[in-house]
Amino acid sequence: MTTDKKCLINWVGGKRLLRKTIAPLIPQDIKSYIEPFGGGAWVLFYKDKWADLEIYNDLDSRLVNLFRIVKYHPNAFKEEVKYLLGSREMFFQFLNGTFFTDIQKAVQFYFLITRSFGGKGSSFGTVKKSSGGASKSQKNVLEKVDAIHERLDKVMIENRDFETLIKQYDFEDAFFYCDPPYSQGCGYDVTTTKDFDHERLREILGNIKGRFLLSYDDSPKIRELYKGFEMIEVERLNGINNRSDVENRKKIFKELLIANYPIKELHERQTNRNKTR
Ligand SMILES: C[S@@+](CC[C@H](N)C(=O)[O-])C[C@H]1O[C@@H](n2cnc3c(N)ncnc32)[C@H](O)[C@@H]1O
Repeated sequence: MTTDKKCLINWVGGKRLLRKTIAPLIPQDIKSYIEPFGGGAWVLFYKDKWADLEIYNDLDSRLVNLFRIVKYHPNAFKEEVKYLLGSREMFFQFLNGTFFTDIQKAVQFYFLITRSFGGKGSSFGTVKKSSGGASKSQKNVLEKVDAIHERLDKVMIENRDFETLIKQYDFEDAFFYCDPPYSQGCGYDVTTTKDFDHERLREILGNIKGRFLLSYDDSPKIRELYKGFEMIEVERLNGINNRSDVENRKKIFKELLIANYPIKELHERQTNRNKTR
């Protein structure tokens, strides 16, 4: 299975389009790989193994429940998912229904995220071309579940606030890939952009024993907050797959990658390698 298929959901702010830029910057001599802001885990799933100890964390318990169910009950999950239709009626039944067991809740969440526009879970996603949105292939979905189930075999899944998590797992050989809510843009169920405490994250990361790589939007606030750390600018196209909105699709977003270890040289080397290919 290709690495592209090794992801379960498109998540708002997910690093689908940047994972190939981020991966070469991750040090190889690490004993643990930790994602405090896991989301759809595009970077974690990009490689079969980053370190002996790997931790996925997110404060959003719906995501955590989904990955725990895929890890521990893949067959029960697949049995439910198998019969789901890409239908508008079913979308609204899932949106307004009450679900009791963790397996049912995982299926409901998965269905709403994968069948909605932009992975936001609130509006039914239709497409004019391609096989995205509501017309997803069921066969591919089941294969993805198997691939993620296998990938999660040795991954620990946590559901904590980033501060508790980082402090708990920090040591010299630890590596944290941090992808927090951005300083501008949309928020999440667990926090709005305005409420997220960027200064608290800066304080924690400034004092860890391990190494961190951080993704952020390129804003004066973030540049000022992380002054003194290695920083590189990267660009990506708009991730929302709205094929009819050509202008929006062409929009380029500037992002920052920030680290407490040297990344500039690694990034330059990788960029030159890509140019000569
Ligand atoms: C930019 S997204 C991560 C996307 C992920 N890297 C991917 O590729 O899909 C940020 C995540 O941080 C989570 N989050 C927000 N506040 C948090 C907190 N205080 N502690 C831990 N996670 C938090 C959100 O639920 C969201 O899933």
